Amino acid sequence: MKIKTIRDLDIKNKKVLIRCDFNVPIKDGKIVDDTRIVGALDTICYALEKDAKVILFSHLGRVKEEKDLEKNNLEPVAKKLSSLLGRNVKFIPTTRGQELENAIQNMKSKDIILVQNTRYEDLEGKKESSNDCELGAYWASLGDVFINDAFGTAHRAHASNVGIPTHLNDKSNVAIGFLIEKELKALECLENPKKPYIVILGGAKVTDKIGVIENLVKKADKILIGGGMAFTFLKAEGFHIGKSLLDSESIDFCKKVLKEQGEKIVLPVDFAVTNEFTNEEEYRVKDISDLSVEEMGLDIGPKTLHLFESYLENAKTVVWNGPLGVYELEKYKKNTDKLLKYLVDHNIKTILAGGDIVAAANVCNVKDKVYHASTGGGATLEYLEGKKLPGIEVINK
Ligand code: 3PG
Repeated sequence: MKIKTIRDLDIKNKKVLIRCDFNVPIKDGKIVDDTRIVGALDTICYALEKDAKVILFSHLGRVKEEKDLEKNNLEPVAKKLSSLLGRNVKFIPTTRGQELENAIQNMKSKDIILVQNTRYEDLEGKKESSNDCELGAYWASLGDVFINDAFGTAHRAHASNVGIPTHLNDKSNVAIGFLIEKELKALECLENPKKPYIVILGGAKVTDKIGVIENLVKKADKILIGGGMAFTFLKAEGFHIGKSLLDSESIDFCKKVLKEQGEKIVLPVDFAVTNEFTNEEEYRVKDISDLSVEEMGLDIGPKTLHLFESYLENAKTVVWNGPLGVYELEKYKKNTDKLLKYLVDHNIKTILAGGDIVAAANVCNVKDKVYHASTGGGATLEYLEGKKLPGIEVINK
């Protein structure tokens, strides 16, 4: 069944509640990366063109105690949106009450309101995150139509993304926005991918990727493994990995995968190694069999880069999650950047799944050149694990 989109609804003069994911990095009140805000513009602009009254919701960070409130205030997002849209976005500093209700009451077509961080409701009783019934019903009562465009939050069942559509007066007035539509279209091409289909997995721990590996090893032709997680696989193969990162609780899992699907797993053969986890010390390139007990690998080496490229050369579909080295240390980001550029230069259909690899692609200016760079971290991973996403399921119902 085709999922309903904002195009399918009559939104003229309606109060349209749009759930976005404006969970963006903010430092000293300044937005460091506005990708997710820019990603929401298509839906917001469409609603404005159709003369809707636009009421935006989003979470920001996690709110557990009083001191989390200030740093997770959504106001900087309202300012950024105002400048991107070239029109005033009225910020309501609370999540409920008279000020919010009056502001909505007084809206004219093409007005925009951004409601305070939905997780302010978590301070007492985790109302947002536990999908509190009263809260979902209250927010639903504020509008006529609900659009979910928060792909990054689609793996959560919270009041603002699942509660609102559940309680909306007219349940036929719910749909997804253009960002979710685009994300789903990109990810759906992984259901029947053109082959060879190659998965690249990096990042620190195997534990975080067990579900993804289990699901993708059945579908992919090869899984190229880099990042810290490669060492747990190498240890499982019997190599000495020195002081390199080890995720000991996952060794048995790695052994099982290598035994059952070993021909699909491609592990690094060399590394940039050092004795200290710093940017200052010079690194050496060593084969995996030559690592001493004092050394740790912090990036893949040149032989591995070529090995990975040889598998990617004829690839028709690539999905990539997690950098291949310690990306926060300048010296060890090189081969992740090189492989990203290789994929772009060879025009290989690539889907970047997860915040870290998308941020890496942004830094080396290839984000806009890949087939798709997902705005979802956890949501994309859960999709790749084969799980249903509650924020999408609720619209499908
Ligand atoms: C994300 O950044 O992955 C989403 O915004 C969800 O945030 P959360 O992990 O705090 O629920």
